Amino acid sequence: MLRARIVGTGSYVPEKVLTNQDLEAMVETSDTWISTRTGIRERRVCVTDTTADMASKAAKNALKAAGVSPKDIDLIVVGTVTPEMAFPATACLVQSDLGVRSGAAAFDVSAACSGFLYALDIANKYIKSGEVKKALVIGVDRFSKIIDWKDRATCVLFGDGAGAVVLSAEKGSKGVLSCHIHSDGKHWDMLYAQNSCPQTPFEDKEQASPFLKMNGNETFKIAVRTMGNAITEAMETNGLTADNISLLIPHQANLRIINATRDRLKLTDDKVYTNLDRYGNTSAGSIPLALDEAVRTGKIKDGDVIVFVSFGGGLTWASAAVKW
Ligand code: COA
Repeated sequence: MLRARIVGTGSYVPEKVLTNQDLEAMVETSDTWISTRTGIRERRVCVTDTTADMASKAAKNALKAAGVSPKDIDLIVVGTVTPEMAFPATACLVQSDLGVRSGAAAFDVSAACSGFLYALDIANKYIKSGEVKKALVIGVDRFSKIIDWKDRATCVLFGDGAGAVVLSAEKGSKGVLSCHIHSDGKHWDMLYAQNSCPQTPFEDKEQASPFLKMNGNETFKIAVRTMGNAITEAMETNGLTADNISLLIPHQANLRIINATRDRLKLTDDKVYTNLDRYGNTSAGSIPLALDEAVRTGKIKDGDVIVFVSFGGGLTWASAAVKW
C-alpha cells in the first residue's frame, strides 16, 4: 500500500522579534497578563518578508532536508488565509520561486489555523491514489497584516511564520496513518477577517473593517472541546492509546487550551510539543513550524507515532497521525 511519508521538514520565521514588553509600549497590556493567560512571551513579525517569501524559504529548507530537487515535485498545496495576492495562489508563487517544473499542480487551501492539516489531507490523498509521487505541503500565515495593532484583545496573540514538509510516495508502514478534517460554518463569526477590497461605486453599505475579529471566550471553550474530540478520532482510527503516542503537536494558540487538551487525554507534559512562547499563534504556520523544530532538536525518532491536532476560524478542526 502506498503511503505519504514525510521525508523532510523546514520552517521560516521573520527576523523581527516583538516581545510582550514591546507590546506594553503599544497597547494597555502587560507581560504578566499575556504570559499567564496565553503562554506567549514573544512573536515574529514581517518587515520585508511577504507570505510567499516565508512559504518559499520554509519549503527550500524542507527540500534541502529531504534531499529532493524542486524538479521532482508534482504538487504544491499551501494552507493560508493571508495569501500573497487574491490570485494567483501563493502556491504558484512558491512554484516560481523554487523552480518547480511547469505542469506540476499548485493551489492554496483556506482553513485558517487548520490550513496545514487540510493541505496535508489533500496531498496525502493524491499520493495514496498514485497520481502524485512527491508533494510539498506548506502552512504559512502573516497575521501581522490583518491584526488591529490597537486592539489588545487580539494583537498579543498572533505572529508570522511558515513551515513545510516534503511528502514522498513509499510502500511500507511509515508515513501518514490518518487525516481527518472538519468544519462547522455556523460558528464562522467566532473568528474572521473580511476582505479589504475597496468599495465599488455600486455598493451603498459601509466599507468593512479588514481586521481580524474574535470572540475569545467562546473560541477558547470550543477549542478545548474540539481539539480533544479530534485527537480521540485519530487515536480510535489507529487503535492508539495515550501510551502509544510519542509526541502530540497541537496548534499553538494558547498554552491553557493545550494543557486542558493534554489533561483530558491524560498525556504527560513531555509528550506535548509547544513553542508558542517564542512564536505566538502563527495560524497555518504553527504545526509545521513546531514539527520542524521537534525534528531538528532530535525530539522525533524513527518509528515514533506523532499526532497533530488543529483548530481555527471557519470553524475548522483537524487531526493527523503519522508514523515516522
Ligand atoms: N492585556 C490586558 N488585559 C486584557 C488584554 C490584554 N492583552 N486583553 C483583554 N484584557 C482584559 C479584558 O478587557 C478583560 O477586562 P475586564 O474584565 O475589565 O472586562 C480581562 O482582560 C479578561 O478578559 P477575558 O477575555 O475574559 O480573558 P480570558 O482569560 O478569556 O483570556 C484570551 C482572553 C483571548 C487570551 C482567551 O479567551 C483565549 O485565548 N481565547 C482563545 C483565542 C484563540 O486562541 N484564538 C485563536 C484560535 S485558532
